[in-house]
Amino acid sequence: MSKIEACIFDLDGVIVDTAKYHYLAWRKLAEELGFQFTEEQNERLKGVSRMESLDILLKLGEVKVSSEEKSRLAEKKNSYYFEYISNMKSNEILPGAEEFLKIVREKGIKTALGSVSKNASTILDKLSLNDYFDVIIDGNKVTHAKPNPEVFLLGAKGLNVNPKNCVVFEDAKVGIEAAINAGMYSIGIGNSKILSEANFVINSLEEMKLERFNLL
Ligand code: BG6
Ligand code: MG
Repeated sequence: MSKIEACIFDLDGVIVDTAKYHYLAWRKLAEELGFQFTEEQNERLKGVSRMESLDILLKLGEVKVSSEEKSRLAEKKNSYYFEYISNMKSNEILPGAEEFLKIVREKGIKTALGSVSKNASTILDKLSLNDYFDVIIDGNKVTHAKPNPEVFLLGAKGLNVNPKNCVVFEDAKVGIEAAINAGMYSIGIGNSKILSEANFVINSLEEMKLERFNLL
């Protein structure tokens, strides 16, 4: 085991319960376009950028549109999503997330946010979570979505920590792949069948104890 010097956290579905809002917003858009979009299909969109998600959605619905229309649809989805997150309260911080962030920081372990969402700062501001992160990498700073390792490598670089001393917390399959591609450890949050490539999987950060780093 390499010594864990930094924890890099995904945001949606790891720190805050926003994965459901992304799904609801895409589902609303799909309904307007005349097709159903299931929760199972939504797994393919987790951790994927807004425009790539739209491409996947349109393919699923067999809908073809111009690139101007695509931009309009992406904006529309984001306006639905924004409406949902505007009313967010601190009870939508996921169980154990804030407590675990406090514990790792107290132990002198560095922290970064590694999200491809362009709405990450809005959410952190709204829930006063900014101060838990030494470095924040979001969708405005990356050019490649997960499974490309860019978002996590930028996090490690910002923290000045070697990737092999970083552990990533992720709820998306492509997020776990991105961590592996970055040469980092990964801990899945959610379904162990979907996140089977992670070093280990837990249901929520409430189950996370620092001693579990010894298992890596
Ligand atoms: C990721 C989510 O965190 O951010 C994806 O898992 C989402 O579902 C992506 O598509 C981009 O988010 P945004 O807020 O920039 O549209
Ligand atoms: Mg996520």
